[in-house]
Order: sequence, then C-alpha cells, then structure tokens
Amino acid sequence: MDSILVKGNGPLNGVIPIAGAKNACLTLMPATLLSEEPLTLTNAPRLSDIRTMTQLLQSLGVEVSALQAGKVITMSSHSDINPVADYEIVRKMRASNLVLGPLLARLGHAVVSLPGGCAIGARPMDIHIDALAALGAEIDLRDGYLHATAKGGLKGAVHEMRFASVGATENFVMAATLAKGTSVLKNAAREPEIVDLVACLRRMGAEIEGEGTPTITIQGVDRLRGATHPVVTDRIELGTYMLAPAICGGEVECLGGRIDLLSAFCEKLDAAGISVTETANGLKVARKNGRVRAVDVVTEPFPGFPTDLQAQMMALLCTAEGTSVLEEKIFENRFMHAPELMRMGAKIEVQGGHATVHGVEKLRGAPVMATDLRASVSLILAGLAAEGETLVSRVYHLDRGYERVEEKLRACGAQIERVAGH
Ligand code: EPZ
Repeated sequence: MDSILVKGNGPLNGVIPIAGAKNACLTLMPATLLSEEPLTLTNAPRLSDIRTMTQLLQSLGVEVSALQAGKVITMSSHSDINPVADYEIVRKMRASNLVLGPLLARLGHAVVSLPGGCAIGARPMDIHIDALAALGAEIDLRDGYLHATAKGGLKGAVHEMRFASVGATENFVMAATLAKGTSVLKNAAREPEIVDLVACLRRMGAEIEGEGTPTITIQGVDRLRGATHPVVTDRIELGTYMLAPAICGGEVECLGGRIDLLSAFCEKLDAAGISVTETANGLKVARKNGRVRAVDVVTEPFPGFPTDLQAQMMALLCTAEGTSVLEEKIFENRFMHAPELMRMGAKIEVQGGHATVHGVEKLRGAPVMATDLRASVSLILAGLAAEGETLVSRVYHLDRGYERVEEKLRACGAQIERVAGH
C-alpha cells in the first residue's frame, strides 16, 4: 500500500491542468446503456473509479475501449445486456448504483446490489427507489440486491424528491428518457455534473429541459442514438488545487477552471483573503502575504458550498487568524480528517455536524492516515504548509479521485513523492 511523503517547502507557483470530472464521468458512462449505438467520452479522467465503472459495464456486456492517450473512452452496448450488477464490483464503488435507472429503461428489469455502508455516512438508496417507483418500477430488496421490474416499460410521471439527491436525480433522468410520456422531477439536484449528463443525453437525442434548476422535465422518446461528449471540468479537483497556493502562499493558475462551477467556494476564499481571478485559460489563485482570515462554512447542495471541498477547506482554516466553524449538512460522518489534522497540531473541536477550528500559527509534519477520498487530499494540503515531513498512508483513497497529484504539485515547487509499501 502506497503512501505519500510531503515536506513543507514554502510558496507554490505554477500552472496546474484540471482534468475531466470523476463525478460527471461516473454518470455519463452508464448512459451508454440507453442506446445500442456507441457513446464516446472525451476529456475523461484517469482514475481507479473510472476503471471500476469500466469493469462494471463490461460485466453487463458493454464493450469499453481502454482509456486512450487522448483521455477518450468509447463504449458500445449493442449486444445482449446482462441485467445483474454484482456485489463484488458494486461494493468497491457506490456510484455503481447509477446503472439501475439505465438498465431498467433499456431492459425493463434490473438486479443491482445495494452498495452497503460508507466511511462518510449510511448513504441509503430510498430516494432512488421512490423516484424510479414513480415511473412505474416495482422494486424490492432480496439477498442484498435491488430487484427492479417495469412490466410494459416505464411511464412518465411527476415526482418530488424529499431531498435533492445527486445520484437519484441522475438515475431518474436517465430512466425517464425512454419512458412513455412526460416526466417532471421536482426538488431535483442542480449540480454541474447533472447539467453535463443532460447535455450528453441531448446529444443522444433526449428531450430534456430545466437541468440546473429544481425542476427537470423529460419527454420520453422511443430510442436514443450514439454521440461524442466532452466531460466537464472537475470542480472538486479544481477547488482542491486552488487551495494549494491559499495554504502555502504563492500563485497558481488552474487551467480549465471556471468560477461558475464553484461560486460559493470562491466567495469563501475571497472572505478568507485569497485572490481568485479569471484568466484566458482558467483561474489564477494567489495569496501574497499575511495569514488567511477565519471564515464559517456550511455545506449544501449546489449552488451552495460543496461537501466534497469541506475537508480541504478545513485544512486551510487550521492556520487561519481566528476561529472558524464548519457545518457539514450533507453527510453525517464527514469529519474523520479532523483527528488526523490534530496530529499535525491543529486545534479542532467536533460536535455532531459542527467542527470549530481555532487557527494556529503553524502545523507540524506527522504520520497520518487517509480515511476517504477528500480526507486524503486535505492531509496532503496540510502537509504542504507544515514544518517538517508528513507521511500520508492509505493513499489508495486518493487515486480514486485525483490523477498524478504528486506531478501536478511538484510542477509548482512542492516537495512531494509517493513511497511504496508503507
Ligand atoms: C454524489 O454522491 C457524489 N458522488 C459525492 O461525491 C458527493 O459528495 C454527493 O453527490 C453530494 O454532493 C458521485 O457523484 C459519484 P446524494 P451521491 O445522493 O449521489 C442522502 C466524492 O467525494 N441520501 O446527493 O451518493 C445521502 O446519504 C463523492 O467524490 C439518502 O438518504 O450523493 C447523503 O447524506 C463523495 N437516500 C445525502 O442524501 C438516498 O436515496 C446526499 O446524497 C440518496 C441519498
């Protein structure tokens, strides 16, 4: 199991290219099940989660080309599709549950393993089940698998979700593209990854309106065609690298960055005294002098502050001037990075969904352990600004969502390397 060794090395300066979005790609790939013609994704990220989704689709009978040099994936599901998403693959990655809607729409039945618990929360699928049941699916749980059938096919319906779940919105929208009649999803999630999914489905011939708003309307069609679609920029990778110069000082340009993907986050950086400016190729982030100012943060569905940047933001606030309060409103157990940051000298009190961070002058390097994807990168960011060495273990979490972290940060002057077998 690899670890990453980071040595605090002063300000960072340079350019970082931002990849295509993991969380867009993970919903775009199952969309291939909605058509018998090939779907090609460009600007796809090289991540272990994308490889897991590839394995899953191949187990369903989809032909998936290897990620070619140009970050291109071509998928084709023209032959017989197997309706069973096996536990052995689904347990590796929750996003596997995004094949449920497309399989149901394509075949009229699906058997998808329930993902089970996760480090950051229970993460049930009740909202997905209610949404697909509204389209006429009968779904019951047997032996850890969701058995879903839609005799006579799915039928358009109006449905309001109890919470704006990202995954349930994606499953409903994909399923409704081939349902008979019109569907309306209310209290839908508005994340940019959903807007990107709808853009792709439209290229495939789907009739959809309202993406990015709380109400999405889908006019069912008989069939969808093949298409080529560029994956949207990864706003979470973007936010993560914007925090690197914020934490260490210096100036970094993030290529492909867009403020509209991260407006709430950029507002918080501004309040903390970090300058963010748009350039011809992306976003430039700089912290010239002085300490970061403390700010309070509440995580919310888009366009609010993203929960997937909460851990990284906490790393920044550990050395801010003053006390910050972070409230995590999306997941019930997403402060596991706090005790690890405290091993580096941070002063944090966690009470339920609130974490109070008392800023300290400086963090000190220490051996720490990654507990989930975003926690792992928050420890690397903290290590970049700490005195001495930080050894982050269990970085397999990191490889799920960040490609070539060491290279990208080293290009800006960071002292960082991967150490095998630690
Ligand atoms: C997506 O997860 C992302 N994953 C997550 O990113 C992200 O944190 C999350 O959205 C919120 O932004 C992917 O896109 C692959 P939800 P998803 O359904 O779809 C509860 C990362 O780090 N809920 O919006 O699973 C749920 O437990 C990952 O890249 C139910 O109760 O998120 C959670 O508390 C982590 N019942 C909340 O809603 C349901 O049926 C939000 O979940 C569904 C969800």
